[in-house]
Amino acid sequence: MPEPRSRKNERHAVATEGEIGPGTRKMVTINGRSIGVFNVNGQIVALLNVCPHELAPVCVGNVSGTTLPSAPGEYIWGREGEIIACPWHGWEFDMLTGQCLTDHRKLHRFAVEVDQGTVYVKV
Ligand code: FES
Repeated sequence: MPEPRSRKNERHAVATEGEIGPGTRKMVTINGRSIGVFNVNGQIVALLNVCPHELAPVCVGNVSGTTLPSAPGEYIWGREGEIIACPWHGWEFDMLTGQCLTDHRKLHRFAVEVDQGTVYVKV
């Protein structure tokens, strides 16, 4: 008799709520998929550790901010802690939406739940 298929969007406990403090991350593997779980200024997000450009492990990249729209010659820094840069070619992604800042491609995001002090990722 064949094994039952795993359900989609099954939730997996990945950490305690206090384990991933603001500005930190935890790398986990769920069903063979590498996933970065980040605390982005208090909001927990989970991103597939695959860059949509050339498949680099994007979740090990630097987290920082970016320059904001501004007048010519003016440089305004903002969104600190919300932007991750891919370690291979430096593409920057908005961690809250997955959207690349300079291309139409996006990082794959997973739903996250925090329930009674435990962080769950739905895969
Ligand atoms: S593989 Fe991520 S920017 Fe190229």
